Amino acid sequence: MGFLLTFEGIEGSGKTTQAQRLFEFLQGEGFPCVLTREPGGTPFGEALRVLLLRPETGSLDPLTEALLFAAARREHVLRVLVPALDAGKVVLCVRFTDSTLAYQGWGRGVDFAFLRLLNERASGGLTPHCTVLLDVEPETGLSRSLASHDPREVRFELEFAQEIRLLERIREGYLELARQEPERFLVIPVKRSEEEVFQEIVERVLPRIRQWKEGKV
Ligand code: TMP
Repeated sequence: MGFLLTFEGIEGSGKTTQAQRLFEFLQGEGFPCVLTREPGGTPFGEALRVLLLRPETGSLDPLTEALLFAAARREHVLRVLVPALDAGKVVLCVRFTDSTLAYQGWGRGVDFAFLRLLNERASGGLTPHCTVLLDVEPETGLSRSLASHDPREVRFELEFAQEIRLLERIREGYLELARQEPERFLVIPVKRSEEEVFQEIVERVLPRIRQWKEGKV
């Protein structure tokens, strides 16, 4: 069994940049790694990603949204995550089941018991060994994200710009998830340089990966 490491956090927290850096670092250390993301990671998932994130889609019923993220996840788990984990790799995944709880649960108000069951079915019960939660202030994250994102993928950002409270609830939801599972979550504040954040991620994640390598996880 490989090691599943997920990156979570609201928009503009630097997940993609930090996951990419850690991926390169771990490869340099000789770990066989895979870097992937949700929604996405398969051709079907990437196609759903376009539909879910493009502004033209407009607002969706919260349940419709949850089901579409779950559909993309199921294909991703079966075709990418499970094969890579079975091959003993370190899998770095930007966003996973916690995103559904944070966004569709705390954000959109979908029932948590239903979302937990949906996550369980879509992921086949796969739980990350470790989750890096990058924590940023909603206003800061949102403006960073709007400045850097492909304008074809900003459906969520445009909505948060109208209602920042929504993003605040999602951030609180993430922090609550971290409180519920302190063993799995590493909460890393990002109010520092990219380099300092990266160093903290390496310092805190590497011992976990080494433990796994030694068969202690
Ligand atoms: P990003 O990959 O650029 O972060 O965009 C993905 C967006 O999709 C982001 O706003 C979070 C949202 N999302 C959910 O609402 N639920 C989910 O389960 C996932 C994976 C993402």
